[in-house]
Amino acid sequence: MSQSVAARIPRRALSRARALATTFAQPPADALAAWYLRRRRSGIAELITHSFESLSAQAEDGQPDLAVRRAIVDQFHRLYYNDPGTWLETRWMGVDAWKCPLDLWIYQEILHELRPALIIECGTAHGGSAGFLASICDLVGTGEIMTIDIESKPGRPVHPRITYVLGSSTDPEVVATVRARLPTTGNVLVILDSDHSAPHVERELSVYAPMVTVGSYVIVEDTNVNNHPVLPDFGPGPMEAVSAFLTANDQFVVDEGRQKYHLTFNPRGFLRRVSPP
Ligand SMILES: C[S@@+](CC[C@H](N)C(=O)[O-])C[C@H]1O[C@@H](n2cnc3c(N)ncnc32)[C@H](O)[C@@H]1O
Repeated sequence: MSQSVAARIPRRALSRARALATTFAQPPADALAAWYLRRRRSGIAELITHSFESLSAQAEDGQPDLAVRRAIVDQFHRLYYNDPGTWLETRWMGVDAWKCPLDLWIYQEILHELRPALIIECGTAHGGSAGFLASICDLVGTGEIMTIDIESKPGRPVHPRITYVLGSSTDPEVVATVRARLPTTGNVLVILDSDHSAPHVERELSVYAPMVTVGSYVIVEDTNVNNHPVLPDFGPGPMEAVSAFLTANDQFVVDEGRQKYHLTFNPRGFLRRVSPP
């Protein structure tokens, strides 16, 4: 039996499994180990299903209580986020869009409600998110997108509503370019999805949040990192920047209604402007 497989099986369970198996035949030891692990995994799966069913059955609305719900969602969040075949393989019209589709649907609802005249996106990457926003703007019949990145990449969507800006989102020249495009009427929506370190996000918030019109949003992406609940070793990131921002600013509130699908990469990241400066 390979060392690595054997090492994962408790000694007593292994000898019991061996004894059982020898009464029938003499399967190779590797098959035995695999059989044990399969049994154990299906046992855990049954346990999870049973626990969820009994917790739901106890509740009046058929839903487990908030703390249990949170634990389930957090575990699913980790499962989803840590799988390289999910958000890293998400595309809009063939272009990588590094987003959770549930969040993209929320974007669609926000764009339909607000019909922003200008959307400022910090962090373009391949341009899939900008392409998605442009498509929704086409459907609602209004809106321009300015998307900023320190890198240019080939294959980004070419669309009359999208302007690509090359440079750091906090570079004064870049900020001036964006400011010059602010509309005199209509809503302005801001999406922060560039460098996710807390100091950078704090700087972006101080520069771009004042551009957001009342009723619109600054959406801080990836507040889920640094163990909220993924990437526990990330260090202070967007969530910590949001907390600092909200402590010093009462013009914005967290719109928890935008977390209605339970899973969002932006917990506490949908910040709605409720009052003017
Ligand atoms: C998470 S990706 C953006 C994903 C994209 N919005 C999407 O949903 O597909 C982050 C991007 O931010 C860019 N970036 C990093 N630091 C930046 C900065 N200071 N200013 C602007 N962009 C930056 C990176 O080059 C990278 O392309």
